[in-house]
Amino acid sequence: MKKTLHDLTDLAGKRVLIRVDFNVPLEADGAIVNDRRIKAALPTIEHVLNSGASAIVMSHLGRPKGDPIKDAPFTMDRVAARLRELLPNRIVIKVNEVVGPAVSETAERLKPGEILLLENLRFHPGEQAGDAEFAAQIAALGDVYVNDAFGTCHRKDASMLAVPAAMTGKPRVVGFLVGKELQILDQLLAHPPRPLVSILGGGKVSDKIGFIKALLTRADKVLIGGAMTYTFLKAQGLAIGNSRVEADKLDLAKELLALGAGKIELPIDHLIADKPEASATTKVVEGEIPEGWFGMDIGPKTIAKYAEVIKTGGTVVWNGPLGKYEDEPFSVGTKQIAEAMAASNGITIVGGGETADAVEGFGLDGKMKHVSTGGGAFLEYVEGTPFAALSVIDEK
Ligand code: 3PG
Repeated sequence: MKKTLHDLTDLAGKRVLIRVDFNVPLEADGAIVNDRRIKAALPTIEHVLNSGASAIVMSHLGRPKGDPIKDAPFTMDRVAARLRELLPNRIVIKVNEVVGPAVSETAERLKPGEILLLENLRFHPGEQAGDAEFAAQIAALGDVYVNDAFGTCHRKDASMLAVPAAMTGKPRVVGFLVGKELQILDQLLAHPPRPLVSILGGGKVSDKIGFIKALLTRADKVLIGGAMTYTFLKAQGLAIGNSRVEADKLDLAKELLALGAGKIELPIDHLIADKPEASATTKVVEGEIPEGWFGMDIGPKTIAKYAEVIKTGGTVVWNGPLGKYEDEPFSVGTKQIAEAMAASNGITIVGGGETADAVEGFGLDGKMKHVSTGGGAFLEYVEGTPFAALSVIDEK
């Protein structure tokens, strides 16, 4: 069992280094699309501040390439502004560097109850290189290390691994968000209330092979939707018209169908369109998809069938939209499956990324037991990949 913030009782006067995942979705100009990940880290930050400590908060944002002009939208300035809005009674100081004298001096002057936000960790090449010297400079800023960056736990960036490694001897714990995510996912993996129903959508089978295999092995029922449907249908020899398909993954799809025999449900009807755009002419077909038409969403009979299965679930875990939900005409399947989950009495778990965005867009996130902040991290944890970042956190 990993130590959590709850295990630390003497934080007063300490400088607590908190690795969060403030990698929020951005518009092209850097405006924040969705602040879910910032809000999710607030309980940890507030606990630290209320305990009489100061917080040095650090995160990456996006995937900057080392070109200062192109990377400008990835500055943490807007994140700092949002943090100030969310914590109006707190002082949030934002520095324009990740390490260096200005950062160290600001950290030394930090008073209990104040927050120092570092610039985007990935503006420094040492972050993704896992550089030990860079990590040592960050490690020197804090008396305590807290990992509350669930969404980044599958990465080996310096702030996740080399920094806590450099803080051996100082307390190193997980924050409340990581604690909660691990508790829910550990229950899902170890002893989920059954039946365990899994809903798998999204574009590509090949993006999440390990995740699909893990659920095919563990779940009692697996409901398939989204564009990956057409790769499975084609693998079964059915016509899919002009629908999106991974033509080089048909053997993999056959292998997965065999692994999930008796558990997998594929859509029995489809909403199809004469072009893959919101302005298209649409109709519902059962079975095969005619030439010239594109499968865009699951059909009404499939929705009704899946909703019945979801109703029976002791645990329902969902990853990947069931149609091209960003376009209103193709959003019905994703929305109605979200509604079926929201009405379920089971433990409902939604994977991060676009599934979480969809559920939030429908205003149903509050009706789920858990909406993960992890995209890739959620997939990898469920798949059974251990997180190196947790190996450097103290054991209880
Ligand atoms: C995520 O959004 O999955 C995490 O913040 C990790 O970001 P990355 O995929 O750019 O490493």
